[in-house]
Amino acid sequence: MRVLITGAGGFVGGHLVDFLLTVPDTALHAAVFDPPGKNPRLDGRPITQHVADLRDPEAVRDLIDAARPDRVYHLAALAQVGASFRDPWKTLENNIRVQLNLQEAILRSGLDTRILIISSSEIYGAAGGSTHQIDESFPFAPGSPYSVSKVTQDMLGLQYHLAHGMAIIRARPFNHIGPSQKGGFVAADFASQIAAIEAGQQEPVMFVGNLTAERDFTDVRDVVRAYHLLLEHGTPGDAYNVCSGAARSIQSLLDTLLSFSSAEIEVRQDPARMRPSDVPRHVGDASKLRAATGWQPTIPFEQTLLDILNDWRQSMGVPVRPDRV
Ligand code: GDD
Repeated sequence: MRVLITGAGGFVGGHLVDFLLTVPDTALHAAVFDPPGKNPRLDGRPITQHVADLRDPEAVRDLIDAARPDRVYHLAALAQVGASFRDPWKTLENNIRVQLNLQEAILRSGLDTRILIISSSEIYGAAGGSTHQIDESFPFAPGSPYSVSKVTQDMLGLQYHLAHGMAIIRARPFNHIGPSQKGGFVAADFASQIAAIEAGQQEPVMFVGNLTAERDFTDVRDVVRAYHLLLEHGTPGDAYNVCSGAARSIQSLLDTLLSFSSAEIEVRQDPARMRPSDVPRHVGDASKLRAATGWQPTIPFEQTLLDILNDWRQSMGVPVRPDRV
């Protein structure tokens, strides 16, 4: 089975590669922006790297001709909600253009490829203020430029399925976190500051944004397993939430991370971290995913947070203790 991953050098891509390397009879191909030798999560591993600027239609056609994939995991995207407010067109152009190029190239190739595209729970926006679990039938209510890009990606996937019969499955992940996530996402932003304070690289003051929001967090290692199950067993044309079903406040995420540190840390709100609009509460319903695949998340929230903090500690030369919650 020839499997192509876009965004393989990124946070989720790296974890998906770790997982797919354990799946027998899988020939992995990665679309990368940086040349081989500059992709630490991929270099030296049994993966064929294809350098391509996915915003360029011709480069994507060449990529598909070279990789001739049976399966595509389309992860490449700009994923920071906060950053999308600062440069809306960058996120819109990148996320929409790249997926369009990919779908067009596969359509024109005549290959019978199954494609997983990554939408987002952000498309549901404030979900009408609902405190219930959000299922796939909730209407779209995009509140950020990022969520508009994801609504469009979601609809492009559906449209190519309806118009051309392409085997496109849409995943709608809620928040996913884990080791090696870069800054710009809440758990990484908080854990990196705690580790920097422990390492003596930052004054014992950490900066935070909105702590009242609630989100549904899943460990990225569980999420990539869900992606694999969906691509193999999901119904083409369908959309599936990927989530844990539990709402957690950002305050509780902060408190849990702080409980792993013996440093005395002052917490200060930073106006620059507040957004023009922020979804107040997101909690999802993954019944459809469970029914289709039997998937269940396995890694507890607290363990994920400790793994993230320890990952930042390691990168800053701080002793890691303990490694189990
Ligand atoms: N990033 C960040 N940094 N967020 C903060 C901070 C901070 O210092 N302080 C508070 N927050 C709050 C945000 O305002 C938001 O309410 C919440 O923490 C989560 O923010 P993010 O981690 O940036 O995630 P997100 O919910 O906006 O979007 C994530 O989840 C989506 C799926 O629902 C991203 O991973 C998206 O790419 C993904 O599609």
